[in-house]
Amino acid sequence: MLSLEEQESSQCLVVGAYAMQAALSTIPYFSKPQANRGSAITISPFLGSSEEVQKILSVVYCIKDSSISVLLTGPSGVGKDHLARLIHSLSPRKDKPFVVVNCANIPETLFEEELFGFKRGSFTGADHDKPGLFEIAFGGTIFLDEIADLPLSLQPKILRVLQENEFRPIGGNERVNTDIRIIAATNQNLEKLMQEKKFREDLFYRINAMEITIPSLNERREDIEILMDHYLNALSDENQKPKPQLSAQARQKMLDYPWVGNVRELKNVLERLILFAKKGMIEEEDLALQEVRQIPVSIPLVSPTLKTLEEVENEHVVLVLQAARGNRSKAAKILGIGRRTLYAKLGKLR
Ligand SMILES: Nc1ncnc2c1ncn2[C@@H]1O[C@H](COP(=O)(O)OP(=O)(O)OP(=O)(O)O)[C@@H](O)[C@H]1O
Ligand SMILES: [Mg+2]
Repeated sequence: MLSLEEQESSQCLVVGAYAMQAALSTIPYFSKPQANRGSAITISPFLGSSEEVQKILSVVYCIKDSSISVLLTGPSGVGKDHLARLIHSLSPRKDKPFVVVNCANIPETLFEEELFGFKRGSFTGADHDKPGLFEIAFGGTIFLDEIADLPLSLQPKILRVLQENEFRPIGGNERVNTDIRIIAATNQNLEKLMQEKKFREDLFYRINAMEITIPSLNERREDIEILMDHYLNALSDENQKPKPQLSAQARQKMLDYPWVGNVRELKNVLERLILFAKKGMIEEEDLALQEVRQIPVSIPLVSPTLKTLEEVENEHVVLVLQAARGNRSKAAKILGIGRRTLYAKLGKLR
């Protein structure tokens, strides 16, 4: 398994950031809309000038011709879905389907039907053959989104297909071959889930030939400006509105905001601003950014009763996070715990 850190020391980084961006942009699918049977894909570059994003793009460039399984990790809204589509569109599988399986959404009862399909007559109401997603994705990529939410009972079923490269549709006599590349994503800590026996180790190693972690926007603040400028243009066009101007103070406030919801939150705020901008100008007071968003939970500052250890710990975590201006890496360092442990604590606080 190659972590990003290991990649850092590999030859991949010989490809300079700018040379690599230029090389990527010459690949037609990098910026052109692409539709296929799996889902409509609009490919746009993975923007960012930070060292973290440049490293990620170096890795993506290195693996572009392969079918290596990739596990994308990172908090919600950082661009895991966005990156999965980019990896697919740069791969030799780019003209084949990119099929998204949201592991958190498929009801257990429909799982096999959706993934493996069924043959006509296999049950009452099955009046036609229905291909499953594994068949539809032949030659392409299956994106197993929210993989941590795949119920334990279903994990061996997926694993078997990935190991044997074949499956049997419901009611079918013959096995069907698969040819798929797997990209999985999660904002949870799979190692912890494995320890808690909620995620199978064999499946973990099957999907995680290579892990790419996308850090929160707060840990790569240089990217805020480029994303902000890009989405101010793109969302104005999309909403057929003139691009509003940000006053210097408003711009600074956006650049200083912690963006706990990452790029998704930034896009949502920009879209609201574009729709509600008065006279094409956005002032600081128009932003109405909720500074309290930095505080993941409302804990009473004065408690009439004595607090439990957990309450005191929660308050301290929030305090340190505020002092670190929402920067989770810094907060974790001050608290003397790992980033993943901090995420887990914040997850419980929400
Ligand atoms: N580097 C980037 N450049 C351009 N757009 C980005 C970038 N990162 C994220 N986005 C955009 O931000 C939005 C949120 O990203 P995405 O849905 O990929 O996040 P996610 O990590 O999959 O979140 P979740 O864990 O909640 O599923 C999308 O509209 C995506 O296109
Ligand atoms: Mg996603």
